Amino acid sequence: MTEFLVRGRGLTRRYPAPRRRMFESRSYTTALDDADIDVRAGSAVGIIGESGSGKSTLVRLLLGLDTPTAGTVEIDGRRVDAAAGARSLHWLRRQTGIVFQDPYSSLDPRMSVGRIVGEPLWALGIDGDHRARVREVLADVGLEADMAERFPHEFSGGQRQRIALARALVHRPRLLVGDEPLSALDVTVRAQILALLGELRRRDGLTLLLVSHDIGVVQNLCDEVFVMKDGRVVEEGPTEKVLLQPQVAYTRRLLASIPVIDPGPALP
Ligand SMILES: Nc1ncnc2c1ncn2[C@@H]1O[C@H](COP(=O)(O)OP(=O)(O)OP(=O)(O)O)[C@@H](O)[C@H]1O
Ligand SMILES: [Mg+2]
Repeated sequence: MTEFLVRGRGLTRRYPAPRRRMFESRSYTTALDDADIDVRAGSAVGIIGESGSGKSTLVRLLLGLDTPTAGTVEIDGRRVDAAAGARSLHWLRRQTGIVFQDPYSSLDPRMSVGRIVGEPLWALGIDGDHRARVREVLADVGLEADMAERFPHEFSGGQRQRIALARALVHRPRLLVGDEPLSALDVTVRAQILALLGELRRRDGLTLLLVSHDIGVVQNLCDEVFVMKDGRVVEEGPTEKVLLQPQVAYTRRLLASIPVIDPGPALP
């Protein structure tokens, strides 16, 4: 095992902008511009930055959900970007799980919770008793085993986000990525899920990569923070240092503009 579970180098993603006139030359939006990121195995890393700064683009590239225009991604020392083949992509899926912001749209309403949560086991061709594993992971996220028979619309927003989390964890990934996974939740549920993520990290050595607007979440959970602006990483470092002594004016403005909803335990 390498020290860094995730290594992104020179990651760049350009999207063609729509042409307004027929003979206008093609222009591009640079969503991500030469970004480097390292995530130590077992650590929790936060990504903050204003809307449109490239946070989601970065995590999509790291998870092989999108292809970089330039740059490389290694997971545990293995290339998994466009240059890697289908086998590496399958391997990458096994190593990673993702939770998105909106637990309503990410769960198929026609599938039972058991099928939703167990689907990655089937899709990844993982051996073993899938029903038993689904019951186990539902318990891990604080849901009852008999909820497997029910459907997403029967659950509250917080419960749905737990279902999404169970699905992201069912195949025992080493890296869990959350793109604003707590933003749609109220303060109490957010605190419960934060505690749960901390527990999974301690118990299973899960590595966490979290995109969050909420400084309280980052402060509570993350060892290190990356600050993004216009597709670039403009500041990075230990959480206390970046949040309490930001070196870059942009980070200071960003921190001043973000309301702290759940401050979590005070920093030393
Ligand atoms: N599929 C796409 N096609 C064209 N442009 C895109 C696409 N995806 C993202 N972009 C652009 O890339 C930039 C970065 O987007 P991204 O979604 O990574 O931002 P973000 O930091 O996640 O923002 P937010 O906090 O609002 O989620 C934005 O200017 C966005 O409009
Ligand atoms: Mg985003």
